[in-house]
Amino acid sequence: MNFKEELSYKTERIEASLARFLPPEEGYQKTVVQAMNYSVTAGGKRLRPMLMEESASLFCDEKEVKALPFFMAALEMIHTYSLVHDDLPSMDNDEYRRGRKTTHVVYGEGMAVLAGDGLLNYAFETASAAFAEAASVEDYRRTASALRILGRKAGIYGMIGGQCADLKAETDSGLITEEALLFIHEHKTAALIQAAMMIGAVLAGAGQADVDKLEKCAYDIGIAFQIQDDILDVTGSQEVLGKPIGSDEKNHKLTYVAMHGLEQAKKDTARISDEAAGILESFPRRNLFLEELVRQLIYREK
Ligand code: IPE
Ligand code: IPE
Ligand code: MG
Ligand code: MG
Ligand code: MG
Repeated sequence: MNFKEELSYKTERIEASLARFLPPEEGYQKTVVQAMNYSVTAGGKRLRPMLMEESASLFCDEKEVKALPFFMAALEMIHTYSLVHDDLPSMDNDEYRRGRKTTHVVYGEGMAVLAGDGLLNYAFETASAAFAEAASVEDYRRTASALRILGRKAGIYGMIGGQCADLKAETDSGLITEEALLFIHEHKTAALIQAAMMIGAVLAGAGQADVDKLEKCAYDIGIAFQIQDDILDVTGSQEVLGKPIGSDEKNHKLTYVAMHGLEQAKKDTARISDEAAGILESFPRRNLFLEELVRQLIYREK
């Protein structure tokens, strides 16, 4: 299989696995569950679960890691909730996501808030269910560590912290600094990518030094990924992206492109993603698919 075929094969498998974890649309809570599933099943690249699985395979045969599918699904739920809330009128106020009308446009704002909340809670319920698969004390420990990473990287010291600074920087000119920009990129975007790679490693039995190395690698991937996202907001098209372009300018966002210009942004995203791939090459068990995935992300058009 070439890279493209392998990518679509793996994406389809993740899609199928994720579908098995989604809640049934029934009862008096049916509407909120429909809104949750509407956003999750709209597609998306499934990058975070993919990075989790591929990171696990740096340390063992990932199919042996029973907790992995639970955490892969949980992380995609958290990522999706962050998008549902990110698109709300009170945040980025966008009407398209993953090629569909955003959740709040279809279900109303109240339901979109609840769908995000629902996904966040269901994510932790799903990840916690991995304890039932534990076959040893070691498995319990790994699952507990993974849960802690998930909470931290999704929360105020991770994605939510980054979204806070992203919103503040819309109106606070004191935040138009390189340091603030990197804080925003690291937290709103790199944090969930770090969660993906660190959790994959932890569940697969990696030692602390390797988990730390992947945290740095995922930092680079995340920064490069968000720079490319900022670039696409200027150079992309809604048809391909599945979300509106020009959203950052509309909202006066502090972006990499706004601060450094398009050409510098392109150079930096290439350099940083190269650094990330370099770190991956240093692991004794090479994962060529993962290395290629990281290198290809800067060429993505969506
Ligand atoms: C979008 O993430 C939000 C950012 C952090 C830039 P993705 O580009 O991974 O979105 P999907 O999951 O493919 O829709
Ligand atoms: C969002 O960054 C990161 C999240 C935590 C959702 P953006 O606001 O740039 O993401 P898009 O461009 O709407 O996907
Ligand atoms: Mg945003
Ligand atoms: Mg947005
Ligand atoms: Mg964006």
